[in-house]
Amino acid sequence: MYKALLFDLDGVLVDTAKYHFIAWKKLADELGIPFTAQDNERFKGVSRARCMEILLELGGRTMSEADQIFYRDKKNQIYVGYIRNMGEDEVLPGVTDFLQDAKARGYAIALGSASKNSRLILDRLHLTQYFDAIIDGTKVSRAKPDPEVFLQGAAELGTLPRECIVFEDATAGIQAAHAGGMQAVGIGDSQTLPEADIHVPGFLGVTIENIEAELAK
Ligand code: BG6
Ligand code: MG
Repeated sequence: MYKALLFDLDGVLVDTAKYHFIAWKKLADELGIPFTAQDNERFKGVSRARCMEILLELGGRTMSEADQIFYRDKKNQIYVGYIRNMGEDEVLPGVTDFLQDAKARGYAIALGSASKNSRLILDRLHLTQYFDAIIDGTKVSRAKPDPEVFLQGAAELGTLPRECIVFEDATAGIQAAHAGGMQAVGIGDSQTLPEADIHVPGFLGVTIENIEAELAK
């Protein structure tokens, strides 16, 4: 029944969420804005520009567009400094086996990420080969929870939304999948991602067969 799998990147395939957090935290400290791991949940899945706006909201601050661009570029430089040094061991456990197995079973596979650094990360971690389509922050104009990124992925794969399963670690991404008429697997628990159709803590020991069986229940 399902023909295509669409994966978010940060926090689903690779452990980059921690580097986003560290980089935003450094910037927040510089700007004197309190910023916690809980605040960081709101940053997951949303664009860099939107993250900058949320940070300013958290600090009750306003800033000119030019300054916002300056600071979000600065955050990105800090972030890219970390991801350039990532090793293949930072692919999350079980991910490579899961992708290999799904590919061998004939599923079409796409990336659906807000990140403009997606290609750099996939190349760096030797994951690019698994993807039939890569939709990232350089290709979409509307951020999750808008379904654009996943609908574009389904279209590039030549599949219908109802034939797609989305894997997401962010509330905005689960909402985007549903808005696009797709099933959403939450990487995490039901407390953090109450809207997901099913949950897995990660990919270790999980196969696409398990996922399909769970979705059918
Ligand atoms: C998403 C992350 O995948 O990409 C967000 O969950 C991030 O936290 C967004 O803001 C944009 O990433 P980048 O790499 O273009 O700054
Ligand atoms: Mg994510």
